[in-house]
Amino acid sequence: MENVPTVRLQTGYAMPLVGLGTWQSLKEEGQTAVECAIACGYRHIDCAWMYQNEDEMGKAITKVIKENKVQREELFITSKLWSIFHKPELVRTGFMKSLNKLNLKYLDLYLIHTPCGNKYVDDETIIPQGSDGKTLFDDTDYVKIWKVLEDLQKEGLIRSIGVSNFNKHQINRILKECSVPPAVNQIEINPYLVQKDLVDFCNNKGIVVTAFSPLGSPTRPWVSPEEPALLKDPSLEEIAKRLEKSVAQVILRYLIERKTVVIPKSTSPDRIKSNIELFDFELTKKDMDAIGSLNQDFRVLAWPWLVGHKYYPFKENYSE
Ligand code: A2P
Repeated sequence: MENVPTVRLQTGYAMPLVGLGTWQSLKEEGQTAVECAIACGYRHIDCAWMYQNEDEMGKAITKVIKENKVQREELFITSKLWSIFHKPELVRTGFMKSLNKLNLKYLDLYLIHTPCGNKYVDDETIIPQGSDGKTLFDDTDYVKIWKVLEDLQKEGLIRSIGVSNFNKHQINRILKECSVPPAVNQIEINPYLVQKDLVDFCNNKGIVVTAFSPLGSPTRPWVSPEEPALLKDPSLEEIAKRLEKSVAQVILRYLIERKTVVIPKSTSPDRIKSNIELFDFELTKKDMDAIGSLNQDFRVLAWPWLVGHKYYPFKENYSE
């Protein structure tokens, strides 16, 4: 079983460098994936209300604890406030829904999933649209949401609070206007979207960066054949062949050497296992530079339904 190193958050808590991503981990398959991951040595599971599978994640977490495969204290469980719960009076409700589905007494990390809010219609309407087909926005200032997260943290319901998909300007506002700094910013990063500026900025502020879609999300529903296929990149294939590792392992190792936490999603037992076998090899500076030079600023998840929102985070360039 792998023993995964951790990074220390500003709150003092340790966060495992590799976690299991759960977006698109559907229902029972997702539940089995969590159980398999725990058996392989994962202790960090990345969840979100938006993924609509927190019931199953909760069942799996409850099962592994009940069967003594792991203690609650050894686990690092993240969830995220979805955009329909941005009104200050809905933030606690949104949080409690996730906490209850996950069947936990506290979360290790809770993130604002996106700075952009959407109108609440009902729990099942994840991206609400008007009769004209346009997305219904909610313009609540994320600083107001942050202050509710600070209260939840003070009450002991969350150990560390953070953000996701926030740009530098948005993080700076939280740093200036709030009392607790974000422990984490979870953003899309992979060799085709290296995000150097934003990662450097977060590191300088002591904010740990988590890389989502580290493998370029090859099975995203909107994938098109014209788009670059990260896992088939010839330069990565060459490095992987030389090191006798998979392309996925080379990418994940590259991200870890950049001091980012990785959360690859898989429901395949073999890939769940291999995605954590990252600590018996290193990349040379030459390999790191070669992988970094693959950057194309290609964003897999540009949140197109939020373009035009007051707080859309990817204006002008990819990190501002
Ligand atoms: P599967 O669940 O069948 O393993 P990302 O984390 O970038 O969003 O990528 C997740 C996608 O990549 C999933 O479709 C997952 O499929 C696939 N995947 C996960 N691990 C690997 C791997 N080691 N090699 C190839 N594909 C992988």
